[in-house]
Amino acid sequence: MLVVRKAAQTAVRKHLCRPFSASHTNLQERKGLVLGVFEKDGEEEGVHLTEAAARFDQSLSGKLSELLKIARPGLKKGKNRLFYGIHQDFPCVAVVGLGKESEGVCGAEKWNSKKENIRQAVSAGCRTLQELKVSHVEVDDCGDAKSAAEGAILGLFSYDELKSKKKTRVTSQLHGSVDVDGWKKGVIYAEGQNLARFLMEAPANRITPTAFANTIEEKLAPHAERVTVKKRSKAWMEEQQMGAFLSVARGSEEPPVFLELHYRGSADSQQPPLLLVGKGITFDSGGISLKPSQSMDAMRADMGGAATVCASIVAAAALKLPVNIVGLAPLCENMPSGKATKPGDVVTAKNGKTIQVDNTDAEGRLILADALCYGHTFNPRAIVNVATLTGAMDVALGSAATGVFTNSDWLWEQLQQASVVTGDRVWRMPLFQHYTNQVTDSQLADLNNIGKYSRSGGACTAAAFLREFVTAPHWAHLDIAGVMSNKDEVPYLRKGMSGRPTRTLLEFAAGLAHSG
Ligand code: BES
Ligand code: ZN
Ligand code: ZN
Repeated sequence: MLVVRKAAQTAVRKHLCRPFSASHTNLQERKGLVLGVFEKDGEEEGVHLTEAAARFDQSLSGKLSELLKIARPGLKKGKNRLFYGIHQDFPCVAVVGLGKESEGVCGAEKWNSKKENIRQAVSAGCRTLQELKVSHVEVDDCGDAKSAAEGAILGLFSYDELKSKKKTRVTSQLHGSVDVDGWKKGVIYAEGQNLARFLMEAPANRITPTAFANTIEEKLAPHAERVTVKKRSKAWMEEQQMGAFLSVARGSEEPPVFLELHYRGSADSQQPPLLLVGKGITFDSGGISLKPSQSMDAMRADMGGAATVCASIVAAAALKLPVNIVGLAPLCENMPSGKATKPGDVVTAKNGKTIQVDNTDAEGRLILADALCYGHTFNPRAIVNVATLTGAMDVALGSAATGVFTNSDWLWEQLQQASVVTGDRVWRMPLFQHYTNQVTDSQLADLNNIGKYSRSGGACTAAAFLREFVTAPHWAHLDIAGVMSNKDEVPYLRKGMSGRPTRTLLEFAAGLAHSG
């Protein structure tokens, strides 16, 4: 290992030692470099360089540290400074602030500051270079190549598919580090999240249930030997007696799709799978209980559960994780029409339970009810469903954390551990009998799809409703309504649909894979 590292460092040094000459600088290529610096501890002024930055500085006989001093002492976390023309290979060099090197995991907040600081700093540096029309960046690992890659790939993403004026496409590469595996992993994690962001941000007339399913099928095509994709039709749903799901889909002209993914990563084909279930409402108008028009456009992302679940399976396949996963995504639109379900209608779910639909805008729990019943047939080792389920979840925690409702302490621990690594926070929420009482009180049926007595604790009544369709001992419901979109809360994601918590689902699956 030491020999490999020495050789790599010599190669890096040779590469860096070429002296600068303006005539050699290929300005057409627009290559950039992102290097990290730490704040000094205590009151001390100035910065200290990461390993890669220090080597770069040496190759320029201390020019970089000299310029940093002239620029202004210190460099705050997430801020960057640009230097032009100091190296012939890199016309633009962005030096980024990583905060204090001593920062680690905050126990109470379950927050890994070191990793988050790297993501934030690298993302800021890459974006600054993108603004300068740099088309290729090399990136310092800053002590954690996976987080650096995530910062670069997540930070550079923007959805400009439908604009004529697009941002510069930037490719990225690890600089001056031997941790190529860590970097590659980070790229796959971040590209997974970007796939979810793409699906969520895209308008609902582009990402219909059919288009969603086709996109995922295409993304999984390179992994065909380990993956099966089934796109179930309305006729299949009828056979399966998915009355709850069909009652939501019936108001729309767009055909519903029940997407079923099987990833066989484990050497043991009999290993019970991890079951991931995602809410896939490609547009939620509210149905007959129509939503107000303000911000209704955001409901194009009401398939965020399906997007994060499917994207994490695409990434798991790319990583060849040794684990079996089944992914289910009931996909449809929730629209008002002459055929739409009306408030007060009673529908029958796959398990025979009857549901009085008092509010057609509480549709997510209806489609998930049938998907959960069906999911149990795979005898899963754990079930995790993910959904932009309630506005109440957004009111409760906003974008700070995904709400996790679970009947399993073990599953909660696994999810929490995964989220500390990824920086996507999770927060455990209650499954009290108090909420169950509200959904089991229906005038006409076994269940009501909204809490009967009060609107309070809406995220909890929704979870209590889902629990009526779960018999497995390890189940978790993730309400991601609050983390669906990003303004500036997550500094390494641009404004828009967030794709959270794709990386956490992936990290969780990776954890299961390694625990056997
Ligand atoms: N998709 C919405 C929830 C939502 C709101 C997600 C805001 C993201 C941002 C869901 O289908 C819904 O409308 N839920 C209702 C339930 C209510 C009628 C009991 C809600 O939260 O208002
Ligand atoms: Zn709704
Ligand atoms: Zn919805």
